[in-house]
Amino acid sequence: MSTDQHKQRAAEAALRFVEAGSVIGIGTGSTVNHFIDALARSDINIEGAVSSSEATTHWLKAVGIRVLELNTTGNLPLYVDGADEANRLLQLIKGGGGALTREKIIAAASQRFVCIADRAKLVERLGEFPLPIEVIPMARSFVARQLVKLGGQPELRADFTTDNGNQILDVRNLPLQEPIKLETELSLIPGVVTVGLFARRGADVLLLGDSTGVQEIRP
Ligand code: A5P
Repeated sequence: MSTDQHKQRAAEAALRFVEAGSVIGIGTGSTVNHFIDALARSDINIEGAVSSSEATTHWLKAVGIRVLELNTTGNLPLYVDGADEANRLLQLIKGGGGALTREKIIAAASQRFVCIADRAKLVERLGEFPLPIEVIPMARSFVARQLVKLGGQPELRADFTTDNGNQILDVRNLPLQEPIKLETELSLIPGVVTVGLFARRGADVLLLGDSTGVQEIRP
């Protein structure tokens, strides 16, 4: 069984959290695309979805799911999204797809965050995956220097602009022993738009797919 099939299993398992007639938040990535496809195939009719990226908006529209604006929906009962890494406290690294800012906004505005992933994303300690940080372009070098002072090794994501017109620094070697503290510290650097650490508001449920089935983890 392939990693993609593991993702699909986790995605399908998230359907049981979706209430008919509701508006839900939807993240970005290949696992989420499986979730959208599974939702479209199911008999659960939702009122619409708040999308975390242009890519997800395309995917939602392609299967006929209405895309709504967070400004008009108010807070949401459910957010479903993937992750690049997750620990057992359900703290996450996200932003591999570059959609971290809208993802963090929708996660914050949602009552329950169900994270879907293949089992290989579960780690003992966050930080093997380089931490994505979205920055205002004119602040890129300044932010990079602050990250180096903290021990990080930032690298500009080449040929990439976020949906918000910003750039991404992918940062290795940051001290990630205390994810909440680091998330707070990095978020305070002027020019940082969003840090791809989802520790202050992590997931509420983690669904991990592998060849044996789907494991559910709660903090
Ligand atoms: C998008 O910006 C990320 O936060 C995604 O959630 C993450 O990259 C997961 O991607 P896959 O589902 O493709 O593994």
